[in-house]
Parts: sequence; C-alpha cells; structure tokens
Amino acid sequence: MSPLKVWTNRLRGLLLQWLLLLSLLSATGSFRSKIFTKHVLRSNLSTSFYVLDDTPGLDRVFDGIGGVSGGGATSRLLVNYPEPYRSEILDYLFKPNFGASLHILKVEIGGDGQTTDGTEPSHMHYKGDENYFRGYEWWLMKEAKKRNPNIKLIGLPWSFPGWIGSGKSWPYDSPSITALYIVSWILGAKKYHNLDIDYIGIWNERSFDIQYIKILRKMLNQKDLDRVKIIASDNLWLPISISMLLDDELLDAVDVIGAHYPGTHTVQDALKTNKSLWSSEDYSTFNNEVGGGCWARILNQNFVNGHMTSTIAWNLVASYYPQLPFGRDGLMTAQEPWSSHYVVETPIWISAHTTQFAQPGWRYLKTVGHLQNGGSYVALTDGLGNLTIIIETMTHEHSKCIRPPLPFFLVSEQTTTFSLQGTFKELRMLQVWYSKLGKKPWNDTFLFKQLPPLKITNGTVTLQLGLDEVYTLTTITTGQKGSHPTPPESRPFPSNFEDNFNVGNPPFSEAPNFADQTGVFEYFTNDQDTSGHSFTLRQVLTQRPITWAMDADQTISIIGDHNWRDITITCDVYMETPVTGGIFIAGRVNKGGSFIRSAQGVFFWILANGTYEVTGDLERRRIIKGGKANVMAKKWYTLTLNITDSSAYGILNNRVLWKTQLRPLPRNGWAAIGTRSFEFGQFDNFHIQA
Ligand SMILES: *[C@@H]1O[C@H](CO)[C@@H](O)[C@H](O)[C@H]1NC(C)=O
Ligand SMILES: *[C@@H]1O[C@H](CO)[C@@H](O)[C@H](O)[C@H]1NC(C)=O
Ligand SMILES: *[C@@H]1O[C@H](CO)[C@@H](O)[C@H](O)[C@H]1NC(C)=O
Ligand SMILES: *[C@@H]1O[C@H](CO)[C@@H](O)[C@H](O)[C@H]1NC(C)=O
Ligand SMILES: *[C@@H]1O[C@H](CO)[C@@H](O)[C@H](O)[C@H]1NC(C)=O
Ligand SMILES: *[C@@H]1O[C@H](CO)[C@@H](O)[C@H](O)[C@H]1NC(C)=O
Ligand SMILES: *[C@@H]1O[C@H](CO)[C@@H](O)[C@H](O)[C@H]1NC(C)=O
Repeated sequence: MSPLKVWTNRLRGLLLQWLLLLSLLSATGSFRSKIFTKHVLRSNLSTSFYVLDDTPGLDRVFDGIGGVSGGGATSRLLVNYPEPYRSEILDYLFKPNFGASLHILKVEIGGDGQTTDGTEPSHMHYKGDENYFRGYEWWLMKEAKKRNPNIKLIGLPWSFPGWIGSGKSWPYDSPSITALYIVSWILGAKKYHNLDIDYIGIWNERSFDIQYIKILRKMLNQKDLDRVKIIASDNLWLPISISMLLDDELLDAVDVIGAHYPGTHTVQDALKTNKSLWSSEDYSTFNNEVGGGCWARILNQNFVNGHMTSTIAWNLVASYYPQLPFGRDGLMTAQEPWSSHYVVETPIWISAHTTQFAQPGWRYLKTVGHLQNGGSYVALTDGLGNLTIIIETMTHEHSKCIRPPLPFFLVSEQTTTFSLQGTFKELRMLQVWYSKLGKKPWNDTFLFKQLPPLKITNGTVTLQLGLDEVYTLTTITTGQKGSHPTPPESRPFPSNFEDNFNVGNPPFSEAPNFADQTGVFEYFTNDQDTSGHSFTLRQVLTQRPITWAMDADQTISIIGDHNWRDITITCDVYMETPVTGGIFIAGRVNKGGSFIRSAQGVFFWILANGTYEVTGDLERRRIIKGGKANVMAKKWYTLTLNITDSSAYGILNNRVLWKTQLRPLPRNGWAAIGTRSFEFGQFDNFHIQA
C-alpha cells in the first residue's frame, strides 16, 4: 500500500470514529447542557449570565496539558542548537510561569522504525542488546525535569525493533518479551537518568492486546513500579472502553483511556468505565494563528464537550526539516540549529492561558460550558480558594484543526457576566490575561497580554468578548510572559558542510543534522582501525523493525536543504556485508517521513558484488546507469556525486566512473546516505558543496 493510501485509510478510520461519536453525542451533550443551562439566565440577546459555583461539588480532576516529542523524530534538530538558544527554547516549553509551562512531556520509546518524520533508536536494537544513551528523548526528559520537577512523563512505543516480533511485524507474538522490553525502558530511565516515568502506553494508534496489557501491569507491579499508570490505547475510544467494561482485570489494569484527535467528544462507554479520559494526542496543526485557534478551542472544549482532563499536542516542538510530513505542526518552531533561529509560535501562549494558572490535581467546576453566542468557558480550582476561569471565542474558520473535520458553528461578539458563588463569593479581584488571534495583516494579534485586574462587584465580573479571543481570569498572581532576547535571523543550511564524525565522546548517538528516515545511523568507533577511519557514522539495523509507517527496504538518512539543486557530495563509504551488501550517497532526495518509500532523487550506489548503479529512486526501480566497478565489502572507497543542472557524474576514488544526463528527476531535494538493505555500513568524511 502506498503511504498516501495508508494515510487515507487512517483518516477514513478517524472520520468514521468521529461520525459515530456525533451520533452518540446527543446523549452526552444533553447531559452536559442540563447542567449549564440551569446557570445561564438570558438577560437580553447580547448579554448572558453564567454562574461559577463549587456548592454542587466539583467535577473531574485536571491532569494537565502536554506535548509529544517523537512519533517520530520531531525533536531531531533541537538537540543540535548551540547554547544559549537551546536552553531558551526549553524554557519556552517547560519553565513554570514563563511560556507554555507544560505539565506533561510524552516521549516516543524509540523502536528503530519510521514514525512520521524519522526513526528514533531503540534501547534494544538486537536481542540481548541494552543501551540507555541513544537518541535525545532521555536528554529532553531531563531538561524538562530540571525546569519543572513536577512535570509528568509518559512513554509510548510507535515501532519496535524487529527481534521483538521474532520475524513477524507484530509486537504481541510473545507478550511477556514485549512487556519486558517496555519495563526495561522504564527501569533504564530510573537507573541511568534518575527519571521516574509516570505513565506508559501500549502501541500508538495500532491494535492493543488484552493479554499484553494484563502482563504489562503484572510485570510493572513485580518490579515495584505499581505507581506507573497505564494509558490505553492511544487510538479510538470504543474498542478499549468496551473491552474494559467486559473484563474486570483489564478495567483494573488501565488507569487512563487515551483517545487521539477526538474532536472534543467522547462516547458513553468510555464514560461508563469511570476512568480518566484524555485526548492523549491532539492538535497536529500548522502553528500559525489558526493552529493557535485550534489549540485554544480544544483545550477548553475537550473538557466541556468530552470530559477530557488532559490534552497532549503532537508535537511538542517542530524540530524537523519543514518539508517532511506535517511541517511546523509543533507548539513552537526550532528547525534551524545551523542559524540558531527559532520562533515562539501562538500555541505556546495559548497553552500558557491554562498551564500557568491551573496545575494537575486541581479540579474542574461543574459549572462550565458553552457561551450563548459561541465559544466556551471552563473554571478550575485547587480546592484552597483559588479560581481560574478560561474563556475562548474561537471562530470556525480560524480554529480548524487538521482533523477531524469541524462541523460549522457561529460565534459573535457578546457581553458575559460571571457570578462567583460558593467558596468564590468572597473574591474581590481577578488577574486578567488576554490573547487575540488576529487575521492578516496580523496587526490585531495579542498574545498573553496582562490586563489590569478586574474588580469583582457584587460577586460578578462582566466582560465584553470579541472574536478569536482567550481570557484567563484568575486568583493566581504568578503568571508571567517570559522572554529571551530575539534569536538570530533565519538562514539556509550552510552550502559548504562537512562532518568527519571524529567525536571521541559524543553527547548524542546521532551526528548533527542527519535525519534518519529508515534505519538508524550512529557514531561508531573502530578500535582496530589502521586506515584512518577510527570514528565513523554507522547504519546499525540488521533487521526490518516492527514498522509503524512504511519504512523503505533500504536505509537512508537525509541532511541539508530541500531547495538544493546543484550539489556535490563526497563521502568515504564501507560496506560490511559481502556479496549482497550495498551503499549509496544521493542528492535531490525529494521525500521523507512516511513517504520515504517513494523518495526520488539521484542515487549513486556501489554494490558488494563488484558493480555500481545510478538510480532515480531509493527503491532502485529506475536504474539510469550501471556497470562494473571493482568494489567489494570491507574496503573503504571515496564516492563523489556531482549534480549540475540536468547532468550528473560519479567519481570512485579519484576516477570518473560514470556521467549521465538526468531526465525527469526532482529539481531539488536533500542530500542523503544509506545502505541497500538492513545491513551494517559505515560513512566517513562526509562533505557537501551546494
Ligand atoms: C442588553 O444588555 C446590555 C448590557 O447590559 C445593554 O447595554 C443593552 O442595552 C441591552 N440591550 C437590550 C436590547 O436590552
Ligand atoms: C462507575 O461509577 C458508578 C457510580 O458510582 C457505578 O455505579 C458504576 O458501577 C461504576 N462503573 C464501573 C465500571 O466501575
Ligand atoms: C492560592 O494559591 C496560592 C499559592 O499559589 C496560595 O498561597 C493561596 O493561599 C491560594 N488561595 C487563594 C484564595 O488565593
Ligand atoms: C490593521 O491594519 C488594517 C489595514 O492596514 C487597518 O485597517 C486596521 O485598522 C489595523 N488594525 C489595528 C488594530 O491596528
Ligand atoms: C449589588 O446587589 C444589590 C442586591 O442585588 C443591589 O441592590 C446593588 O445595587 C448592587 N450593587 C451594584 C454596585 O451593582
Ligand atoms: C549485483 O547486485 C545487484 C543487486 O542485487 C544485481 O542487480 C546485479 O545483477 C548484480 N550483478 C552481478 C554482476 O552479480
Ligand atoms: C560539479 O560539476 C560542474 C560541472 O562539471 C563543475 O562546474 C563544478 O565545479 C563541480 N563541482 C564540484 C564541487 O566539483
């Protein structure tokens, strides 16, 4: 199946779920509206009156707002930012009372497979292998904890290394091996990084297995990890909810039902479980004003419509090449480590409206709901007298998320009066934070602006609400719009770039700017080397992973600027597999992420059977040229690929091996390296001139 078809199927699945939800909605919706209409006393057409009261008791416990790093490789370029910029970006994400001040960080448990925008390395590439220093998620979790010791950590697998499935692309073949693999990751987090993982997931947006969930629960308990809660199943509401209602042991094993892109609604069966309901992946929308609008609307309405007490954005930070799938679908943008340029986007400040004024453990009031002329309000309390009210008036066109489709609704300007009752009757003053997501030319956008406090007269506050606005009214006085100096200007990827991988003790397992799209490329030390290649970059997968997306049959890591046309790439290469092995360098590689299988470009291969090939695609279906090359495994060769306008030539160890005209081929794309299959292969002295 083509990746497009996979996506279409996935979207169709989500659409079906969503239609089903709509039909169930009337029941949930009317339940909720009974609560709030009681409190809405219509005065006239433009003014409405809302009561906020804890006398009838409180509603669900708020579990926090978060972001996903991974699913996949979405923080890849972040780690290579020089200081102080890298710390500044982390401050905007995690530092309390500063920016997004997130309550939750959800990370991918790297499984070696392509998971949307790249692969992330597993802690166990092979059976018996264990290494808790690969990738960047450990580092990211520690940076988050450094800033906010209370941040909750979630781990979730997307793909798994191939050995888990003993040949089948299926992680539940031997549930106890998979459970041990996951529990090892949690134990490794503690042992090597002193990180306590709070929640663990099952298999992102794929099937769950009841027996596996029970075994995972038992194994966690046996290893004194009773406090680690299970989220299931990071997919649709219904299958897991129904399974839980039919199975007491499963019901006990699962702590949180997490659904993806729920469109602010849940289903009766999920409610019947009495479990916490989360939107455990949501947002995924380009991070301009509309993305900010999407985020503002769902942060409120996931609770108002769907009783969800946590919403987690995919993704945390857009730190991947922007032409990969879902470019810039992060809470902020940091995709240029070479220039240090980054952008604090609107969703950061929309997050702050909730995160800086309510903490996990606070509870929602029962008196929340929709505003009479469109929009919504929620209120939360710490139970100690503090009150935070968040109001949003997002319009339909200006708050669409990438999915599911948003049924039409109207929002108009309105005057609202909130009456504070119960514990809140005595409050005299509320702090006010304001945002407006403007329209082109963007001169009417205001983000997280502190306005003068509102006096409460006679137990009420009145607000004039415009369109696409967010207000936070709160007793909390610690809110802050944090700022760092303006980062450097955006610049393209350097046109002259080299890496000899001579890093004795690298801080990360991956070399800067290389973004693996199938396979895993790691720094490697050749202890016995006498040929000047002691430190190299090595492709380390020898087996196809249990895939989540459509990994290629070849391995490939991309680098550079997608706009590159004329380019010369030089690299020393070393095949490790005799006869069947092969290795390549490439330019104008046009696709990556979940579309990597159909990547085109100019690929220069040498094969261990003594031949070379020039192909127009990664899959080697379009062979442009080929012939004998007197090459073999276990010897180093220097390859050069020069692409100029519509011709190209290849050099092997100083000798021109081939020259060719390029017919319809991509006009531009990244540079890349890779191997013919899941096989070891090494690279050294990589050099690009563009
Ligand atoms: C509606 O209420 C607003 C605010 O209290 C008031 O200014 C306005 O005159 C009222 N309009 C009508 C038609 O009663
Ligand atoms: C959920 O709570 C209600 C009310 O306490 C109870 O009647 C019901 O049995 C609970 N459901 C489950 C699945 O435990
Ligand atoms: C609100 O929270 C602060 C700490 O954030 C606390 O000092 C205060 O007592 C709480 N209650 C009220 C009514 O402000
Ligand atoms: C924004 O710019 C438009 C067009 O130049 C202008 O009509 C409008 O008044 C401006 N709005 C604000 C809030 O400055
Ligand atoms: C406060 O409410 C009382 C009783 O409802 C009313 O008499 C009084 O005029 C109100 N005061 C203000 C400032 O609105
Ligand atoms: C070398 O290997 C390639 C790739 O499998 C194959 O297409 C080609 O026919 C082989 N050539 C020789 C001479 O064995
Ligand atoms: C690539 O080839 C073109 C055309 O032969 C040549 O002008 C250019 O200098 C070459 N680039 C490099 C970096 O060798």
